[in-house]
This record gives sequence, structure tokens and C-alpha cells, in this order.
Amino acid sequence: MNTMTLLRGGTVVTALGTRRADVLLRDGRIAAVGPSLAADGAEVVDATDRYVLPGGVDPHTHLDATFRGETTRDDFASGTAAALAGGTTTIVDFCIQPRGVGVSAALERWRERLVAHPPVCDVGAHFAVTDLAPSGVLEELASLPERGFPSFKTYMAYPGRSMLDDTDQARVLAVAAEHGATVLVHAEDGPAIERLIGEALSSGRTGLREHARTRPPATEADAIERIATLAGSAGAQLHVVHVSSALGVEAVAAARARGARVTAETCPQYLLLDEALLDGPPERAAAFVFTPPPRGAEDRARLWAGLADGTLDLVASDHCPFDLVGQKRTVDGGDFTTILNGAPGIEHRLVLLHEHGVRRGRLGLERWVELCATAPARRFGLGHRKGAIEVGLDADVVVFDPARRWTIRAAEQVSRVDHAVYEGMPVTGAVERVFLRGTEVVRDGRVVAAAGQGRFVLRERTAETA
Ligand code: URP
Ligand code: ZN
Repeated sequence: MNTMTLLRGGTVVTALGTRRADVLLRDGRIAAVGPSLAADGAEVVDATDRYVLPGGVDPHTHLDATFRGETTRDDFASGTAAALAGGTTTIVDFCIQPRGVGVSAALERWRERLVAHPPVCDVGAHFAVTDLAPSGVLEELASLPERGFPSFKTYMAYPGRSMLDDTDQARVLAVAAEHGATVLVHAEDGPAIERLIGEALSSGRTGLREHARTRPPATEADAIERIATLAGSAGAQLHVVHVSSALGVEAVAAARARGARVTAETCPQYLLLDEALLDGPPERAAAFVFTPPPRGAEDRARLWAGLADGTLDLVASDHCPFDLVGQKRTVDGGDFTTILNGAPGIEHRLVLLHEHGVRRGRLGLERWVELCATAPARRFGLGHRKGAIEVGLDADVVVFDPARRWTIRAAEQVSRVDHAVYEGMPVTGAVERVFLRGTEVVRDGRVVAAAGQGRFVLRERTAETA
């Protein structure tokens, strides 16, 4: 196998700038970046009229993950193939602690799933804490950062399932502060939402639109404010996942202005999809049941502005693929609360941000790359290896054709899930080739990775970069 590839004549886009340059990949690393590099025996790839980007880093995925008895449709093999097809070369998935199970046992279960279906892109893991009752949970959490897991997730939503109350949130934040971990938080006010759900059901409002009405933006903003206060008291770093609303963006900005060490992400579904989609025929509208829910036009405008002005730091997918047929259904003729929440997105993140961000003038090319690759790599302890086109870093590189037009169709996607929430959406810009540590894994838009080509990546502690 040729371990040297020269990407010739492309437009290299990084968070720092855009320039015409060749890029030499050698022995898995980026060996040189500059004009008119000599081939010296390397296989030459013509990248004329193409962008040459660092591989995307998606820090929020749920592969082979079981929620309420159903398992997401992508395992680590199919989900990471979908990631590669979409120009993402590294993901950070969630190992979610089943209640009553200790940290090591939960990690072992997550690892077994990874090994059973080996990934084709690189994979790290955040540890999601849902139960402090099993003996030794806090002590084991304390050991995770030095074992390559410098981030924990907590839920303020889903009381009785994965929610931690404020006392337990504070205990996790204290461990994180002491051991240099970041706490990712699902910030929705679970008890307030339960009250709203109760009111909706008792007054006979059971349709899917109630999913959004019972999780209004204030429940997100209040939760962000509360957790930022707790994190401030603990001296911990916080990262708010999937911010969905204008109020949520303002809550992040306000927390930061008060001195909180907080970063935040949003996801394509919040930038692009409207809550009115929940009014469609239930068998299709179920696709748009994810939490937080889709919002309105003003929220989307504030999210785009937040990405441009730096209030929001990065874009993740929250890929949580359940089939419409057989999985995302109301149970026993039940109401909106019985539909499994989650949407697929691992495969379309870069192209959607290119289409709706770069091409529509909301984001510059460099900010696009920063949001999808550089910032997530740095924020989650991978910046020493990934997220940029720099000599010495892993040769995770995407060749992107900014002119190719195509239409998103579930029937053509790599992910195993049976639908796409962006079905029928026309886009211009396509992932043409992808290299993972120097090896070509996507050619002419098709995944050609060998089974198990991905690696588990240990991550470093980071200071937040807001
Ligand atoms: O609806 C979503 N976001 N599903 C993913 C599961 C979770 O963590 O909420
Ligand atoms: Zn999630």
C-alpha cells in the first residue's frame, strides 16, 4: 500500500485561513503543506477546484445505544462508515451508564459494542453519568480523565431515567473540577417539562406538536442558567450540548458574561428544521421528535448568529438513529411521550453547514471548518492530533467538491436508518475523498475503508476555549 499521497492544487481551508497549497500525507501524518510540493514517489491526487479540509470531528453521537429498550440502528461499523461518507473522521460517542451499573462495567459494555462492530473512523467516548448510587461511582469518575476520558455528561432532563438532581449534578461537577474534566450537560428542566407533559395529557392534548409545546425554550434557558451557576460554584468547565433556542443562546452568553467557563454546541436539526414539521402525518412527523425539539424561525436565526459571533462554539450531530418503521412509533396507541426521541445526522453535518452556512453567506469557509472540525477537536482533547491541516497531525483529510449538486435521500445514504430528516433537500457541495491517518477511506464519494480501520482514541484534558 502506498503510504504517501500528494493532494495537488487544492484550496486548503483551515480555521486560520484559505490558500492554494499542496498537502503531502506520509506514514499517517501530514508531512508538508505548501506550494508546488515534489511528489517524490507519492501517489498524486488532483485536488484542483476542490477544498482540502481537516477531517470533521463529531463530538456527539449515539451508536449502538439502547434507550427505553430500543437500540439505535447504526452500530460502530455502519455509523462510522456514514460519518466517513459525510467527511467526519473522528467521533466522540457516549458511553451512557445504565442505572445501577458501575462506571467500569458500563465502560466495558460500551467497549464490547465497539469491538463487536469495529469502527472505520476514529472513536473516543464521553462517560454519561446517570446514577451515583452504585458504590465507587465518584471515585471511578475521578480516574477517567487520566484514562483518556476527560469529559462526563449529565442529564437535567428525563426524570426517573437519566436525570441527576442538582445535588448529584454538584457532586459530579466537583469531581470534574478537581480532575480537569469537562461536564457536558443536556440542559432541559426535566421536572418543569414533566409538569407541562402532565397538563397536556390531562387536557387531552396528545399530538406530536405537544412534544415541542411541553419543552419550551424557557425550560432550556432556565436549565442552562442553573447548571452554569452550579458549575461556577464548583469551579468546573461546562459544555452545553444541542442548544436549540434563542433563549438558550442568550443563557449561554449571560453565563459567560458572569464568568462561567462554558462552551456550547448546536446541531443541524436546530439550524434547519421547524417545529411545524411535528404537525405532519404522525408516521412521518415522528422523525422530528428529538430533544430538545425543533423550534421556530427566530430561534434558528439566533443560532446562526450565535455560530457566527462565537456564542456557540461548535456543531455536533447528536446522531441518534431510530427507524421510523418499527422504532419511532407511538406505543400501544399512546401519546407523543411514547415516541423514541432522536434524529440521524452524522452523514450530513458538513454538507448542510456548507450549504446553509457558507453558501448562504452566514458563515465564512474558515468558520465552517472551525465549527465542524477544529473546535470540537480542541474542546474535547484531540487538538494535538486532529482538526487541522498542520505538519505532524494525523493525516485525516477531506477533499470536498464545492460545486457538485445533489439531493439528500435516505435511499442513498450509508447509515442504516430508514429515513433522513433532510429528505429531498438539494445541496451543492459533496465529500469526494477522505483520508484517515493517510489511508484513503472514501473515493469518489464511496466508502472504501477496510473493516476495523478506525481506532479508539484517548483524549487529553483541555481548558475550555470559548
Ligand atoms: O433526542 C435526542 N437528542 N436523543 C438523543 C438521546 C439523548 O441523549 O437525549
Ligand atoms: Zn445526544
